[in-house]
Amino acid sequence: MKFFVDTAEIKDIRELHEAGLVDGVTTNPSLIAKSGRDIKEVIKEICSVTPGPVSAEVAALDYEGMIAEGEVLAKLADNVVVKVPLTLNGLKATKTFKERGIKINVTLCFSANQALLAAKAGATYISPFLGRLDDINLDGVELIENIRQIYDNYNFDTEILAASIRSPNHVTQVALAGADVATIPTAVIRKLADHPLTNSGIEGFLKDWKGTGQSIL
Ligand code: E4P
Repeated sequence: MKFFVDTAEIKDIRELHEAGLVDGVTTNPSLIAKSGRDIKEVIKEICSVTPGPVSAEVAALDYEGMIAEGEVLAKLADNVVVKVPLTLNGLKATKTFKERGIKINVTLCFSANQALLAAKAGATYISPFLGRLDDINLDGVELIENIRQIYDNYNFDTEILAASIRSPNHVTQVALAGADVATIPTAVIRKLADHPLTNSGIEGFLKDWKGTGQSIL
């Protein structure tokens, strides 16, 4: 499963990229707002840090507006993926972008039928929002399992990009459900390496090692 980082913070992206943990990046209007930076500048900079796909979301809701904004975003760098919301206009824009050779991430997906439509329209990625479904007592993982089954039934090549990941457990669950990609907040990626038995194991080994008086260097 590929790891995308769900942030527009350059420092975090750079650090995780250096650790080999970044296959791509996703942003959305809220994350751009949180960065406090100009969308074009920040997307260009992210694209210079990682060669992987970088999702940049349109703000327009009408088809013409989505196309105009998507064209601007796509020209920022070769690895930009234009993100559009899962509406009929978004699906129409998806078809157009596909015909123009522009990659598309269809976002705000909350049902298997929506995912089916996105694949039919030619989406490169579909983003089901796991955490936001769990927040309202629905089953985000089950949605990913259903989309996996549907895409496999019909050999759709749209990649399932599990989004709105809130915990390390979500990462395991979407990997087991067969998501192609998980887009994960930096804090959750850092937590994935943590285990109390690893920490206590290191402590024990170091204590015994000091007792030997040896040095490797
Ligand atoms: C990524 O593409 C989504 O915009 C993001 O994962 C949404 O996460 P949230 O539900 O935590 O805001």
